[in-house]
Amino acid sequence: MKVAIIGQGYVGLTISAFAGEHFEVVGFDNNSKIVDQLNKGISHIEGVESSTLQNWIKAGRYRATNHGSEIADVDLVVIAVPTPLTKDRKPDLAYIESACKTIGENVKKSLLIINESTSYPGTLRNYIKPAIERHSNSSIEHLYSISPERVDPGRSDYNQKNTPRLFAGLTPEASVRTRAFYSKFCDELIEVSSPEVAEAAKLFENTFRQVNIALVNEFAQIAHSLGISVYETLDAANTKPYGFMKFSPSAGVGGHCIPVDPTYLAVVAEEHGAPATFIRRANEVNAEMSKYVVDRIEADNEGNLVGKSVLVVGVAYKPNVADVRETAAGPVIDQLRKRGAVVSWHDDTVGMWRGEISAPLSGADIAVVVTKHDAVKEHDIFSSAPYVFDTTGSFRKENLSFVRNF
Ligand SMILES: NC(=O)c1ccc[n+]([C@@H]2O[C@H](COP(=O)([O-])OP(=O)(O)OC[C@H]3O[C@@H](n4cnc5c(N)ncnc54)[C@H](O)[C@@H]3O)[C@@H](O)[C@H]2O)c1
Repeated sequence: MKVAIIGQGYVGLTISAFAGEHFEVVGFDNNSKIVDQLNKGISHIEGVESSTLQNWIKAGRYRATNHGSEIADVDLVVIAVPTPLTKDRKPDLAYIESACKTIGENVKKSLLIINESTSYPGTLRNYIKPAIERHSNSSIEHLYSISPERVDPGRSDYNQKNTPRLFAGLTPEASVRTRAFYSKFCDELIEVSSPEVAEAAKLFENTFRQVNIALVNEFAQIAHSLGISVYETLDAANTKPYGFMKFSPSAGVGGHCIPVDPTYLAVVAEEHGAPATFIRRANEVNAEMSKYVVDRIEADNEGNLVGKSVLVVGVAYKPNVADVRETAAGPVIDQLRKRGAVVSWHDDTVGMWRGEISAPLSGADIAVVVTKHDAVKEHDIFSSAPYVFDTTGSFRKENLSFVRNF
């Protein structure tokens, strides 16, 4: 069976790597630089080994392309393109639309189309199916299903094989064929009663995280105002064996999912006249954390950051990945600069970002740890500045007088 995977980023390439063991995979991406690199067997995604790609390429089971004509004869299509927010923070389905155009214009036979991109309930039925039909110049009838992706880049304990996968077809036949596809490389498949349930479940999973992160971020501020350690309090609460799940405070939330997906749910809720107050407030609390962190740093430094050199350590949105989408480091840096600090950042995993390059981990007045990659040594952070504010909780047990945290 020949499978086309539209979008070769975190989700699409990860699926390609697993599917390549069983199927011939055409990885379609409209970024020609990514396509060239992939065809040389070079992976740009943590968790997808270049050696795996090279094996599949050698065996004739993988090639990347940006030519729509190369998906004309495939038997199954997976959509894995970005679903960000527009500037006014509304769902942006432009990438989905463009993927549907590629499929509609190029696929010449009836097949199964699975959406893995995260979007609001109703996207498969009311947006993807009509868009593909609109773009195709024949009356071919396709099968459609959704299987929301749960990949967590950089994570080694859970992967495509051992993470249970939700799915639902628009028709029973679509469900049967979706199960047959994923069962080749996924241990546990859970069929739900409609695509809308699967789409909503994905959004609710990430909303659960977003709201709990906001709650713990607010609690960090409460604990500080009470003069108690947020970390010790959370550890204490976490000794309860049921009914509690520990989240940790941070400088905010980043990545393509947690700051974005809940808003898809909020927008669709409000369109249906239902409240989305938790989501809206959680977005605000998480977004305000950068200001809170910089307020704390300013207060610890004679209430004045003008002219002070501040080194932000770690700008990726989470440890051990190079992904900077929606990273909390962005607003932290903006806040620091607004208050007159001279800011540079160190993150050799990211290398280059916003037209700036990673600075040496040394010589600052103040260091702010936003993300702690495993490769960054604690003692290098400690010697980089005489004052360190750690938002990650990495050094809280060391009780060093020059290291502050929440
Ligand atoms: N990254 C994650 O951890 C994660 C986890 C679960 C779900 N998701 C969801 O999966 C979807 C994809 O996310 P991602 O992180 O893989 O994005 P990504 O940015 O890493 O990759 C998307 C790829 O799609 C390509 N692309 C964009 N438009 C295209 C088009 N019209 N045709 C072909 N290629 C196109 C881009 O060049 C890019 O390489 C999103 O809906 C996201 O919310 C992501």
